[in-house]
Amino acid sequence: MSNPLRVGIAGLGTVGASVIKLLERQSAALASRTGRSIEVRAVSARERGRERGVDLAGLRWFDDPVELAKSGDIDLFVELIGGAEGPAREAVEAALAAGKSVVTANKALLAKHGMALAALAEKQRVALAFEASVAGGIPIVKTLREGLAGNEIRRVYGILNGTCNYILSRMELEKLSFEQCLAEAQRLGYAEADPTFDIGGFDAAHKLAILSTLAFGTAVDADAIHVEGIQSITLADLEAADELGYRIKLLGVAERGERGIEQRVHPTMVSKTSAIAQVMGVTNAVTIDADAVKELTLVGPGAGGEATASAVVADIADIARGIRSAPFGLPVSMLDHSARLPMQRHEGGYYIRLSVHDRPGAVAAIATRMAERQISLESIMQRTRPGKRASISTGAPVPVILITYATSETTIREALAAVVADGYIAERPQVIRIERD
Ligand code: HSE
Repeated sequence: MSNPLRVGIAGLGTVGASVIKLLERQSAALASRTGRSIEVRAVSARERGRERGVDLAGLRWFDDPVELAKSGDIDLFVELIGGAEGPAREAVEAALAAGKSVVTANKALLAKHGMALAALAEKQRVALAFEASVAGGIPIVKTLREGLAGNEIRRVYGILNGTCNYILSRMELEKLSFEQCLAEAQRLGYAEADPTFDIGGFDAAHKLAILSTLAFGTAVDADAIHVEGIQSITLADLEAADELGYRIKLLGVAERGERGIEQRVHPTMVSKTSAIAQVMGVTNAVTIDADAVKELTLVGPGAGGEATASAVVADIADIARGIRSAPFGLPVSMLDHSARLPMQRHEGGYYIRLSVHDRPGAVAAIATRMAERQISLESIMQRTRPGKRASISTGAPVPVILITYATSETTIREALAAVVADGYIAERPQVIRIERD
């Protein structure tokens, strides 16, 4: 058997502690599979004395993760600190510069500095592995980079944030408010320290930036992602979706079309019969459309100590075996820098919920504004306010829901601006894009 692989771990939260336990539990199997023993030799965390359920006796302790990253005691540095800047970034850069391979679960770091870090890893001829950074325990990085190397990928989309999926699922199934469901997600430990990262779509955007690069061989460009969160979704939308044969999911979508690459995160209507619509609760899912394999959906735990540790340990095992893939599947110099398609040029169907003053001609005026711009309506649904059925219109607002056939984002926004200017509606229109299967 070769020399042991000496591992240093920075960040001993739920994931860090689970990595130590999993490496211990699977130590014999991992040694057989990789031909080397994998030994955690040193650790670093903010608080030394905290109870973590792991025995740190015998491991060298570093107060400073950068010192651990550079230490001669380790061959491989595992970064589980989090955050795009500060100690996480400094320690990863220090490890790579010192010629050590790095395993990280840090999506924010990769979304912001992935290109520079991949270039540094390439220059130093070491590995930079990040399976745990996207969709926790789902091996999506390896699937895109290695498993589908023989495919041309057209679209990759998924439920990339468990907190949002948990909130939307509970709101839909139990008719609870957004606030109640968010509080529950926080209590269960799904949400990020700052839950705006989850519900605002930013966590999903970081993950999408990584997926898009792996799928299309383009430079990481998180700033080009159109991001909307789930804060505006109401029970009225979830109920209307259900009636119309849809479910609402926060999706991250990266798609290569003839006009360019789209990258977007927003609440989305998905057909109730699609694979992605079946995924409820904190679970993540990623669907890939590719020429040879056609459609592939991977479903699994997107967060949690053991599930995320599973991905970290898989990367450690690869490095123990001597595998050093280009982090994003291609040498950095070959990653394509072409511009992404702006959201205004997105084309697809739309769900629109309007609160319309119940007056003669209101719906006709709305339909005219759509028709003027060649927007074709697939369905139009006006609801009577519960218990308010009257033989004459009262002028009070009633919900009107439109489903459009494919049109462009610019066209729909122009039509809605004209509808607002006409003065028939009482609130800002709700717009949710429909994703085709
Ligand atoms: N807060 C994230 C989620 C966890 O809800 O999916 C892992 O990124």
